[in-house]
Amino acid sequence: MDKIVVEGGVPLRGSVNVSGAKNAALPVIAAALLTEGDHLVQNVPDLADVRTLGRLLGHMGCRVERLPGPRRGLAVRVPVTVLPEAPYELVKTMRASVVVLGPLLARWSGARVSLPGGCAIGARPIDQHLKGLAALGAEIRLEHGYVDATVPGGRLRGTAFAFDGVTVTGTENVMMAAVLARGETVLRNCAREPEVKDLADALCAMGARIEGAGTDEIRIAGVDSLRPVNHAVIADRIEAGTFLVAGALPGNDITVRHCVATHLEALIDKVRGAGAEVREVPEGLRVIGDGRPRPVDVRTAPHPGFPTDMQAQLMVLLSLADGSSRITETVFENRFMHVQELLRLGADITVEGKMALVRGVPGLSGAPVMASDLRASAALVLAGLAAQGTTEILRVYHLDRGYERIEEKLARLGARVRRVKA
Ligand code: EPU
Repeated sequence: MDKIVVEGGVPLRGSVNVSGAKNAALPVIAAALLTEGDHLVQNVPDLADVRTLGRLLGHMGCRVERLPGPRRGLAVRVPVTVLPEAPYELVKTMRASVVVLGPLLARWSGARVSLPGGCAIGARPIDQHLKGLAALGAEIRLEHGYVDATVPGGRLRGTAFAFDGVTVTGTENVMMAAVLARGETVLRNCAREPEVKDLADALCAMGARIEGAGTDEIRIAGVDSLRPVNHAVIADRIEAGTFLVAGALPGNDITVRHCVATHLEALIDKVRGAGAEVREVPEGLRVIGDGRPRPVDVRTAPHPGFPTDMQAQLMVLLSLADGSSRITETVFENRFMHVQELLRLGADITVEGKMALVRGVPGLSGAPVMASDLRASAALVLAGLAAQGTTEILRVYHLDRGYERIEEKLARLGARVRRVKA
């Protein structure tokens, strides 16, 4: 297994380009299943999760091909009939595979999709996806670890449905299902994440009629058919945010290019609160880490709240603060796995239920550490950049699921970071 080796304590300078958003690309690619034909999704990052979804679509009979060139295109050819099945082998490596369920039901009137099971950050049930699809008329059975769903009469029907809790991929799944339903659908308590809005934009370009995406109420007027998608996905706000935190570490000064500041407001607020300077510049955001960070309290929440996907990375910055910060994780029940590893680097953090008390220390010291999930691994890379000496991050495959060539991007900023192939 590859590892990332970081020699810390080197100041970062220069600018870094943000890739397309993994969590926008995945549902937009899945949306191709809503109609046969030749689809083109652009600005798609080359990541393990994108390749997994490509394999899943391949399993269904689609052809997925990465196009050469700067537009980062992914061509998807969806045949006239597909095998509407997502096997456990693929879903277990990427729970976001479940976003094929809505499109399969809408277009192919049936689907057999493996239940994803738990994961390192929490139980992560899909009950809200299934409730929403059932409200649209799907008949759903859970058997042998699979969701077996059919659409009596062959077409879903518009409905009013309110999610019990805010779910990003749940909102995406039900929205994708509703675009081909008969009649109007009103979805309430929807996720407001920019990725939901981006998916709605892609669907509208396919001919769907959707209003309100990006707010908590989405209205969808069902249409009879769609055309293939041609859409460029938004910049990855979590990758951008990870670089923002890197720039906020003491002594650094970097420009994060091609990011959308309005997608990052809650994070920018906290990074500024911690004492870093964040300036909007024509290319994106310039961030300057000036001296020892100040403590700030943070509570994760669905967008536009502070993103759970940035909690681990911000914890690294706060672990160096001149004082104590409280970080409360409200979205996932088990998302503090990185704490044990940060302690190995000399951080002083205690976890009590949903809250981590981060007592700032003047410095971290490098050590071998183990990545437990995608964002935890990014946090460990950041910690390695700030620590004195060498940090080795093992289980880098977690990082590769969501960060495109992060070691190369950081090296271009001056970091001493390299990948050691197993
Ligand atoms: N939940 C339910 N029932 C459901 C769905 C969700 O109880 O049917 C709960 C979850 O267990 C969790 C909360 O609701 O406690 C929020 O989960 P959500 O469904 O919003 O998460 P997701 O859609 O599975 C997406 C991102 C995650 C990100 C979360 C929260 C994608 C592909 N994944 O997951 O990204 O953490 O939203 O913002 O969009 C990552 O990229 O590292 C990552 C984990």
